[in-house]
Amino acid sequence: MKILANDGIDAVGKKILEDAGFTVDTNNIPQDQLKDRLNEYDAITVRSATKIRKDLIDACSNIKLIGRGGVGMDNIDVDYARSKGIAVVNTPAASSLSVAELVFAHFFTGVRFLQDSNREMPQRGDTAFNELKKNYAKGIELRGKTLGILGFGRIGREAAKIAYGLGMNVMAYDLFEFNPETEISFADNQKIKFKVQVASKEEVLKNADFITLHVPAVDGKAVIGADELAMMKKGSSLVNCARGGVVDEQALMDSLNAGHISFAGLDVFDNEPTPQKSILSHAKISLSPHIGAATNEAQERIGVELAQRIIEELKK
Ligand SMILES: NC(=O)c1ccc[n+]([C@@H]2O[C@H](COP(=O)([O-])OP(=O)(O)OC[C@H]3O[C@@H](n4cnc5c(N)ncnc54)[C@H](O)[C@@H]3O)[C@@H](O)[C@H]2O)c1
Repeated sequence: MKILANDGIDAVGKKILEDAGFTVDTNNIPQDQLKDRLNEYDAITVRSATKIRKDLIDACSNIKLIGRGGVGMDNIDVDYARSKGIAVVNTPAASSLSVAELVFAHFFTGVRFLQDSNREMPQRGDTAFNELKKNYAKGIELRGKTLGILGFGRIGREAAKIAYGLGMNVMAYDLFEFNPETEISFADNQKIKFKVQVASKEEVLKNADFITLHVPAVDGKAVIGADELAMMKKGSSLVNCARGGVVDEQALMDSLNAGHISFAGLDVFDNEPTPQKSILSHAKISLSPHIGAATNEAQERIGVELAQRIIEELKK
């Protein structure tokens, strides 16, 4: 069987598939040529770049499986594919830790103004060193502060573990009831169990010093808009490594400009891949271009998990 890994696949995952007897082609076929060429394959894997829409599914009756390396399947018409008997698989857990670590990269950046000093130092670091030193003098520590997690799923839980390790208090809200007990495993096989504080959304907004969002994309309605930002503690901060649209970008900038929340970290944006310039140039926003899952470790885990899911499905 032939698999087209159109957005690439980690070498370890590719080898697992080849050892199981599959041929894996990692040469990218441009989106506009897929309709004519995808039928040469039995399955396709994608990340977020390639779109698998209804018309492509209709044009390629040979395809038995669509694999998504990663979590979100917004680029695939999943229900339609399944209605046509095509298996659709993804790798939901493989990148959770990488996303959670990026959340703290943004928090550590924001509390020491690195998002701004990294922009200012190359311009003025040689002539206005002491002025910049004064501007960035009032940093704060994370230890002892409260992290509020909205969405206590896979990534939310990983964020809780990091926060606990940093000596933060952790409170979490989820739409559904969840087990607050969480376990951290260390490299030397030590394990530590702890419980996060179960809270309502309002309690998180009102009490957390740092808020991180780990909810799925919601059609049209932001989980954090002007009302929620107004409820947040003055001087608190917010990181969105979930999906664009989960935070109302204009309301976020209004709150930052009014000096209500102190900084934000964003990995995801409205209108990706062309986010608005005002967000990109805001001095109080730490930025990354949707790289939450983009670590070597996560990509390897994604490749391995995807290969295993494909083998399970196609060798049934
Ligand atoms: N930045 C990146 O590169 C990157 C990478 C992977 C995943 N993500 C995104 O991270 C988000 C979380 O992923 P996950 O793997 O933890 O998902 P998950 O399904 O494990 O957890 C999501 C949790 O959110 C809860 N939830 C849903 N709507 C909610 C709401 N309105 N308020 C509170 N809780 C709500 C669900 O009950 C669930 O427990 C997703 O949006 C995913 O697309 C981003």
